[in-house]
Formats: sequence, C-alpha cells, structure tokens
Amino acid sequence: MYTLAGKNIVVGVSGSIAAFKVAGWVSALAKAEANVTVIMTEAAQRFVTPLTFAALSGNRVYGAMFAADAGEEMTHIRLAREADVMLIAPASAQTLARLAHGLADDLLAVTTLATRAPVLICPAMNSAMYSHAATRANLETLRVHGYHLLQAASGVLACGEEGQGRLAEWPDVQPFLLRLVTPQDLAKKKILVTAGPTREAIDPARFLSNRSSGKMGYALARAAMARGAEVVLVSGPSALPDPAGVRVRRVISALDMYEAVLAEAADADVVIKAAAVADYRPATVFDEKVKKDQIDTSLSLIANPDILLELGRRKRPGQILIGFAAETRNLEAAGRKKLAAKNLDLIAVNNVKAAGGGFEAETNQLLLIGRDQVAPEALPLVSKDAAAHMLLDRVSWLFRQAARLQ
Ligand SMILES: Cc1cc2nc3c(=O)[nH]c(=O)nc-3n(C[C@H](O)[C@H](O)[C@H](O)COP(=O)(O)O)c2cc1C
Repeated sequence: MYTLAGKNIVVGVSGSIAAFKVAGWVSALAKAEANVTVIMTEAAQRFVTPLTFAALSGNRVYGAMFAADAGEEMTHIRLAREADVMLIAPASAQTLARLAHGLADDLLAVTTLATRAPVLICPAMNSAMYSHAATRANLETLRVHGYHLLQAASGVLACGEEGQGRLAEWPDVQPFLLRLVTPQDLAKKKILVTAGPTREAIDPARFLSNRSSGKMGYALARAAMARGAEVVLVSGPSALPDPAGVRVRRVISALDMYEAVLAEAADADVVIKAAAVADYRPATVFDEKVKKDQIDTSLSLIANPDILLELGRRKRPGQILIGFAAETRNLEAAGRKKLAAKNLDLIAVNNVKAAGGGFEAETNQLLLIGRDQVAPEALPLVSKDAAAHMLLDRVSWLFRQAARLQ
C-alpha cells in the first residue's frame, strides 16, 4: 500500500542530454516491482535507444503516435487510463512548451493530455533556457494546470555552464512519485519528528553520545511525507541524508534539540519523539582539548532538560504526542510508566536487546501502548519503513476518532 510495487507508472522521456540518467530510474522502479511503461519522444530516441528502456523496464517502449503495428488500439488512451502516475523526465524546454499549451502532436503529449492520473515533471536543460521568461511562463502554466513540478538542480551542466538546469537526482524524485500514489490521510497535518542521538561535548575533540542511528525517525519522516503531511525533522548527528520533501533542522546537543523542538512543536498537530536524547551532559566543557596527563578519571555530569516532559506539559488540546522508549526488560510496565509520566497519547516501546530490533538495525519490533489502551499492540518484526507506517496508521486512526467525537 505504501510502496511503488504494482503501480502502473508511465515514464515520458524527452530530448535532453539527461535522458541516460532516467534509464537508471527505470531500472530502480522495475526493481521496486512497479510496472513501468516508457514513452519516448522522437528526439529522446536520438539520445538513448528504446532498446535500453525496453530491457530495463521489461515492457515495450512506445514512440511514434502512428506506429505501423498499432492496429485498432488507441495506445495513448490505454496508457493514459492505465497509469497510476506519469513521470516526465527529463522534460525538455520543447516538451514543457508543448504540454503548457495543450498541444497533442506526439504520443507523450497526447497521453499526458488524456490522463487523469497525477503527472510529475522533472525539467532538465541549459541554465539560460531554464531561466528564460518563456520557460518560466510555461512552468507556471503547468503548475496552474495541476501538474506537479520538481525544480531542476544546480551545478555543472553537460554544456559546461554552471547554474540551474540539471535533472533532479533520483533520491529527491522517488519520494514525490511515491507521494502521488499514496493515500493522503495526513494531508494538512504538521508532523514534527525527532531522530538520532545527541552529542554532549567534553572538549572540542570529545563527546558523550549513544548508539542511535536515526533510522527509525528518518523512516517516520519519509512515511509521513508520503502520506501528505508537512514534516519537520529535528535530527541529532546522523549519517543519513535529508529526506526529500521534509524540512530538516540539524542539531548537536540535547540543549540545541530542546530549543528546536519546543519552537517547532507549538503549532504541530503531531509530535513523534524518536530521538535518543542524552539525559546528562558534562558539567564542564573545556575550551581546549584536554591533554592525556590532565584527564581526570571521573567526569561530573548534570541533567539535561527533559524535552518529552516539557512537551507533555505544553500539549495543546488535540495535539498528539508520541514517545519512544528503548528498553531491555519489562517493556509494557516501563512503557506505561513513561506514557503516564510524560502525558503521552501513545508510546512505542522497543526492545533494544532483541534480535533484529533497536539501534542501527534495519528492522524493528514495536510494542504500541495508547492512553487508556488495555492490551498493548505488539507489531511484528518488520522494516523500519513498515514500522513507521504502522505507527502512522495509529496516528491516522486517532485523528479519525477525534473528528468523530467533535
Ligand atoms: C546534444 C543535445 C543536447 C540537448 N539537451 C537538451 C536539454 O538538456 N534540454 C532541452 O530542453 N533540450 C535539449 N536539447 C534540444 C532538444 O533535443 C530539442 O529541443 C528537441 O526538439 C526536443 O524535443 P522533444 O521535447 O520532443 O524531445 C538538446 C539538443 C542536443 C542536440
């Protein structure tokens, strides 16, 4: 339900030097078990052969509108109807102009005109062409007509110039494509997610931290974005890339996280605290690196502010507050205690000692305990992406319940 598997995706390739990059995208979509059909403009076929896309997609590639073997079938109508989503990439200046003006003089244009599916457009061209008033006007028209547009990226272009016009990268495109085929049950909700560890400085070279990788929180941010939410991710130091379509605020220490989270939480509809925030920090932070012979063998610590407790105190009516608990034993009792103490609506307890769960792992097994919930819900051991969606299913249910009570 929350993947591209089984979705009918029509990929329209037009005549840009970036066409070869989309071969990689088609390959990724086929690996994700999407059913991909490629339409190429005549110019596109000068850059990459249809054979490349046919081999990668496992499907016939369409080009000419009046193909000799078309028979009685109206290819453009069939493809337009079958599509769950259309992706036009790279979209040349010419193709943008064609679509903006509703022209129907090639198979890609006529299929785009005929489809009722959402269309995602990724332009790619020389930066002067991209910033030209005619192209800007065409992009604006396309936006007004309801097409979904991704901006071209900046950098060195194939023509040697530097500027905006590069085709967007696949990791920045895939989440938007996924969103277009995902039920938007969290649309118009601001969801604040925290992720990762914090670092508590001892001196400029050393810090105290923990094993959190940020994977669970980042999975939650990606899942909430796919379901239409406006997502803010406050992340401690993590090697993971910023999820596309998510506003990311990177912080270092528990004190930084406290400030960022409280500022963002004020107008959030949901706050999910998946970060592993340090409970304590060194009482003294040295300005210079402490030399080996100066090091004391004991370190004195002071308590960090309890972010979750503060969020629970400030919780607005209708706001949903969700905490995570990393435990090694008595999961339910520990979870219930934290749920009550922090004024949470839901707690997700994970056994960090269990095989396949906890820190750094790709999978997780959560025990969900809601406020007033008699029996906790033990989720299966699944990928962190799937666990994130299961948790968001509960959030969606809480919103439906609240709407029913109004
Ligand atoms: C080597 C080469 C590279 C080109 N790269 C681009 C490009 O990146 N973006 C673009 O809009 N046009 C580019 N063009 C021009 C288009 O191929 C041309 O406008 C064509 O008519 C587009 O037709 P189509 O939109 O039907 O595919 C390039 C042309 C050549 C010869």
